Amino acid sequence: MIIAIDGPAAAGKGTLALRLADHYRLNHLDTGLLYRAIGRIMADRGLDLDDPVAAGAVARTLDPADLGHADLRGREAGELASRVAVHPEVRSALVAFQRDFARRAPGAVLDGRDIGTAICPDAEVKIFVTASPEVRARRRTDELRAKGRNVDYERILAEIRERDARDSGRSSAPLKQAPDAAVLDTSALDIDSAFEAAIAIVEAKRA
Ligand code: CDP
Ligand code: CDP
Repeated sequence: MIIAIDGPAAAGKGTLALRLADHYRLNHLDTGLLYRAIGRIMADRGLDLDDPVAAGAVARTLDPADLGHADLRGREAGELASRVAVHPEVRSALVAFQRDFARRAPGAVLDGRDIGTAICPDAEVKIFVTASPEVRARRRTDELRAKGRNVDYERILAEIRERDARDSGRSSAPLKQAPDAAVLDTSALDIDSAFEAAIAIVEAKRA
């Protein structure tokens, strides 16, 4: 079984993907990490993020060990990721790795922006996880404050809107709902309720 999870920043994709992978005993790939690692490497090397040739070269030589880079989870890496993710050269270099991962036994949960539309269009289950920008910004703000970071909600909201616009507006594999994806709006759902709703979607597909 392959479960494709897509949606905008901070919708709860990663949390859900981890729990589904654990529940169904599947492998899990956070595909955002690939783009984050490429953005981070380019920034570290002083390369121009807007240069598709340079970005493509980094993407083609990406090593799984690069995914262990110290600071990939933060806001800065997310911003760097969405800038390199616009290049078709970057996206095409990552396709084979993601598809191979998905096909490996016993199956996988992949989360990202284009899993149901471009990477695994034949996935048995596709879930488009979303929530209002305000709810997503509130979650990110709370998450960062819990880690002791002093962040401003309005600033986080602006960053989320900017990233949504870039991810949805790019021409190469933009963020969009696959026609056969089930929409899971988590605006009013806590993590447990979102997980239960996702299980119901998976079970309905399997029945
Ligand atoms: O992977 P993605 O950026 O879509 O989101 P996430 O990292 O799974 O979730 C972002 C934050 O929202 C985390 O702090 C989650 O604990 C929280 N969250 C939540 O409060 N309620 C949900 N239904 C899902 C996630
Ligand atoms: O957790 P969050 O949703 O904030 O970010 P992420 O899933 O780690 O993705 C970071 C950025 O990588 C996104 O804003 C996209 O620009 C890009 N990305 C993508 O283009 N395609 C994917 N399959 C995954 C991420």
